[in-house]
Amino acid sequence: MGSPHAVTVPHPLETRVLLRDHEGKDYTQLANYLARGGFGAWKKAVEMGRDKVHTEVRAANLRGRGGAGFPAGVKWGFLPKDGRPRYLAINADEGEPGTFKDRYFLEEDPFQMLEGILLTSWVIGAHACYVYVRGEFWRAIDVCERAIAELYQAGWLGKNIQGSGFDLDVYVHPGAGAYICGEETAMLESIEGKPGWPRLKPPFPANIGLFGMPTIVNNVETMACVPVIVNDGADAFNALGSPKNGGTKLVGVSGHVKRPGLYEVKMGTTMRAAIYELAGGILDDRELLCVIPGGSSCPFLTKDEIDVALDFDALKTIGSMFGTAGIVVMHDGTNMVEVLTRVAHFYKHESCGQCTPCRQGTGWLYAIAKRMGAGLAAAGDIDLLVSACNQIDGNTICAHGEAAAWPIRSIAQKFRPQLESAMRARMTASM
Ligand SMILES: Cc1cc2nc3c(=O)[nH]c(=O)nc-3n(C[C@H](O)[C@H](O)[C@H](O)COP(=O)(O)O)c2cc1C
Ligand code: SF4
Repeated sequence: MGSPHAVTVPHPLETRVLLRDHEGKDYTQLANYLARGGFGAWKKAVEMGRDKVHTEVRAANLRGRGGAGFPAGVKWGFLPKDGRPRYLAINADEGEPGTFKDRYFLEEDPFQMLEGILLTSWVIGAHACYVYVRGEFWRAIDVCERAIAELYQAGWLGKNIQGSGFDLDVYVHPGAGAYICGEETAMLESIEGKPGWPRLKPPFPANIGLFGMPTIVNNVETMACVPVIVNDGADAFNALGSPKNGGTKLVGVSGHVKRPGLYEVKMGTTMRAAIYELAGGILDDRELLCVIPGGSSCPFLTKDEIDVALDFDALKTIGSMFGTAGIVVMHDGTNMVEVLTRVAHFYKHESCGQCTPCRQGTGWLYAIAKRMGAGLAAAGDIDLLVSACNQIDGNTICAHGEAAAWPIRSIAQKFRPQLESAMRARMTASM
């Protein structure tokens, strides 16, 4: 069964460690996963012991794949050693526009993630794990539930896993259908049966998380990397990436490219190579205008900024983010006022409304964008956008505020000529 997401034949620039050539095999079946060496990492981990596995994950520089790039091994180390029960919560909400990577594991290769969950739960001492799967991903929910049932039957979940004395229960929790439920504390609220409203931090989930107990929240792809680290070691994982950014990375390239798709590259591959080699270049051989590097929450890049390396630190150095590695490419025929309006509408719609700068600010961003598109822009509206973004940024409970402000501020600052010409065209048309 081929994946609907991955390009079947690997591109020469790819290094595939996570993406599999399914070669007619259905990896949603446990027997096929075991036949390819699946759960071999568990046996190795038990021989190594918990502390050694944790040390290895820390040394591997596994940066969280959910967006912020926080090192997983460091996060696990934040759990207090006070005897309270601990939980693992897996973020499979994948709501960031432009992102389509976790769905590959959830629908096509769930055991890769589940083996990572078993290893992580064992290392951190969690006996229950919740996998919060985006509500619209019905197929993923079904596949994961069947995979988990198979694991219970085969003694890979439940009591005394494979005779190790370790117990683990894993539950699939369908998402509540809101982007904000992907924010880690909103996700915890949602799992607890409450509206997905982010919590103030601190306290961080590692101290007070699910049901008030210490909780580690990690992304699906982060989990999928854990068996690779245990099997191959931290040095091999680091060798696949760039400094402080271990491993390969799934990148989803979409928009105005010739070969959109999901690819796997070494961390540190350039954005230019991703666009012009992996994805075959710009549609109709037009000029590149801009790129969103890792989902719509990231500051946009201009065509002069694409020689940047794809890793969490390099993109930060140039004022953007690697985020979810959902690369959205736009050519020079793109109307930036329309892009602005679409982005602003999304963040206004998805604001949970708890804090004023986000609730009101995203409304203002959308209102300004709409009047630009209607040919009714006032003088100074581009500067007003920047000012509104500055007032949201850093003044909210959760990072949804920044997720709205950063891309919009970057559009206003970097694409002013394009905004002005699109606004002029609308004004002329409406006269
Ligand atoms: C508005 C918002 C939405 C988010 N959505 C997701 C999501 O869908 N999936 C995800 O893994 N992380 C998402 N995150 C990031 C999580 O809060 C959290 O950092 C992540 O799940 C931690 O996992 P990691 O350390 O393995 O990356 C979101 C953050 C914000 C602010
Ligand atoms: S920043 Fe926005 S989404 Fe986050 S808590 Fe405040 S209102 Fe809700």
